[in-house]
Amino acid sequence: MSNFEVRRAERRDLEILMEIERTQFPEPWTQGMMLDELDRTDSRRYTVCIDGEQVVGYLGVMFTDEGMHINTIGVVPGNERRGIAKTLMDECWADLVVRGVTKASLEVAVSNAPAIALYYAYGFAPVGIRKNYYQATGEDALVLVAEIPSTMAAG
Ligand SMILES: CC(C)(COP(=O)(O)OP(=O)(O)OC[C@H]1O[C@@H](n2cnc3c(N)ncnc32)[C@H](O)[C@@H]1OP(=O)(O)O)[C@@H](O)C(=O)NCCC(=O)NCCS
Repeated sequence: MSNFEVRRAERRDLEILMEIERTQFPEPWTQGMMLDELDRTDSRRYTVCIDGEQVVGYLGVMFTDEGMHINTIGVVPGNERRGIAKTLMDECWADLVVRGVTKASLEVAVSNAPAIALYYAYGFAPVGIRKNYYQATGEDALVLVAEIPSTMAAG
């Protein structure tokens, strides 16, 4: 069994978050964008998953009038399929229940099978396609939405 912990992301996590960005995403955010996201604690909720002392993954969500939007999720390369994303999503989902947030949405590249499988496991379903959504690859995005279960964390 893994011993993961989840805490709020802070500025001191910037270096590892940028490493995840650069290694896991074709269009990594800039450091400035990431800092801006971390600082906007009124509308954003960024968390990291800790294994021992190490940050091994992170999740960033944004709150809007419509509910919650997943901005980003990623794990340090080599740590896939250890349950890190699930740990982060479960912790976030429990918080959404407390906040009374009932709807979630996100965009995901149509070819990103691991992420799509993760999201489907949390009840997300496709509602549309955004053509050429990703500038670097020209790839389309699937738009997924989910209802948040009102009682307890999913998964
Ligand atoms: C997508 C990503 C965050 C998943 O993180 P992870 O920690 O490996 O996921 P978990 O181990 O918690 O898996 C949870 C569930 O997601 C699904 N899943 C995750 N990776 C999968 C894969 N490669 N193939 C099929 N299903 C997968 C499974 O349902 C899995 O449950 P299971 O292992 O009990 O079958 C990770 O692959 C990643 O960082 N990818 C690059 C960044 C990225 O694409 N982010 C999404 C942007 S929208």
